[in-house]
Amino acid sequence: MTDIRKEIEKRRTFAIISHPDAGKTTLTEKFLLYGGAINLAGSVKGKATARHAVSDWMEIEKERGISVTSSVLQFNYDGYCINILDTPGHQDFSEDTYRTLMAADSAVMVIDASKGVEAQTRKLFKVCVMRHIPIFTFINKMDRDANDTFELLDDIEKELGIATCPINWPIGSGKSFKGVYERGSGKITVFADTEKGTKEGEAREIPLDSPEIDEIVSEEQKSQLMDEIELLDGASAEFDQELVSKGELSPVFFGSALTNFGVEIFLKHFLSMTTSPLPRMADIGVVDPMEESFSAFVFKIQANMNKAHRDRIAFMRICSGEFDAGMEVYHVQGDRKQRLSQPQQMMAQERHIVDHAYAGDIIGVFDPGIFSIGDTICMPGKKFSYEGIPTFAPEHFARVRQVDTMKRKQFIKGINQIAQEGAIQIFQEFNTGMEEIIVGVVGVLQFEVLKYRLENEYNVDIILENLPYEHIRWIENKDIDLNKLVGTSDMKKVKDLKGNPLLLWVNSWSIGMTLDRNEGLELAEFGR
Ligand code: G4P
Repeated sequence: MTDIRKEIEKRRTFAIISHPDAGKTTLTEKFLLYGGAINLAGSVKGKATARHAVSDWMEIEKERGISVTSSVLQFNYDGYCINILDTPGHQDFSEDTYRTLMAADSAVMVIDASKGVEAQTRKLFKVCVMRHIPIFTFINKMDRDANDTFELLDDIEKELGIATCPINWPIGSGKSFKGVYERGSGKITVFADTEKGTKEGEAREIPLDSPEIDEIVSEEQKSQLMDEIELLDGASAEFDQELVSKGELSPVFFGSALTNFGVEIFLKHFLSMTTSPLPRMADIGVVDPMEESFSAFVFKIQANMNKAHRDRIAFMRICSGEFDAGMEVYHVQGDRKQRLSQPQQMMAQERHIVDHAYAGDIIGVFDPGIFSIGDTICMPGKKFSYEGIPTFAPEHFARVRQVDTMKRKQFIKGINQIAQEGAIQIFQEFNTGMEEIIVGVVGVLQFEVLKYRLENEYNVDIILENLPYEHIRWIENKDIDLNKLVGTSDMKKVKDLKGNPLLLWVNSWSIGMTLDRNEGLELAEFGR
């Protein structure tokens, strides 16, 4: 096997998704401990920034360097080279969170055992399903009182529409949490509350039929476990790697990230069940990651908030071959050959210049304003484009007005540039010019970002007037006459930057009514 092949095969690139507070940061931290990438838990950066409220946004930006470094983490473990993609949550939740999932080959879903599936998980999960990538579930916080285990699984199956296959099974929860039973080996890993922040938990494994078990598990717990295993063996889906790979079956694990219990078991199984870099669809057909020729696509652009440096960092996912820092590449959409400037990678928390990177890796490059989300970078003479990144439905809308109408030019330039970076989406009233601009965002913090950046970078003051719309659909029909469309009283017709027609509604049920009233109307939740 060539070195490139070996390098690519050992890569595992995944995103961790969860609702805020389920334990994503804590789990990531524990992964890094096992990888030897950090020495003490509690040092994953970016967490503090994620906690800020909207009013602290300026502070977040001061620490921008930190949040950049926390977007991708690379470390080695057990012969694998692991890339963890952070999906910003909390107040930072934005379209970027969705786009990050476009760069991942699989997803780890962290669920709080006392809460089950929560709103943000549901939204992110939809994107994973759209991509058919494998999804692994880690049910966290078993050291606290948890919901009934069968109910938790039921919740995942019903809420998310994916079959589950528990790889291990918890014995009790909260104060009576005794460990997990591994279905494959028939052994129990005994729960031990490790010292906070240390690497190794005392992972003691005891076969279920060993007399030693009786010292740890009460008679009642043991008989409950036996009943549950029987029920489980009869009722739950069997492990099927093919279904896992297609994203139709989610292997489920139980543990407690905080006490470092069940984390390594999860990591080991996960790494063997998940996939090395996946092929990607392009206009020339499927591109295999093992192709020698380098290619990548841009999935995220991060603006530098520092007024003195209006540069940006473009994050790209390498999809095939090897990247070499000195080499000349071709930017398809810009129709230009170039060398990528200051290519960077994040090893644990250190940002460093990369010399070599491989399919599966993420690199950040200095962007003087030439890249857009979805752009393809490949080798000169091999021109092709990867399938674009969809536009995700904004959930908050506002009308934007300039305070000083004399600054129209700067305003249009600024708002267009910020939209091009993918921080906001802009829409126009259908049938009017640019006078009325409606901004749509996935996370409300982006409104603040827009206002701040227009003021500081373009010297334009704006007033944002919130609009009540919450639902948006792209119209798929090519030949539709929007004037003839019969809508509901809470509906608004708009168009996006590319001129695509869209509909906005205040109420979700109006979507169905609009469909009923217009035969043949086709609506999409993602924009192309
Ligand atoms: P997030 O990134 O998904 O938002 O969650 P994060 O890891 O920040 O965890 C949220 C809170 O839950 C933290 O407590 C964390 O310590 C706690 N936590 C995470 N995993 C477990 C677990 O397995 N068991 C228990 N009992 N708690 C867990 P916090 O008090 O909000 O923050 P901190 O002061 O501990 O940092």
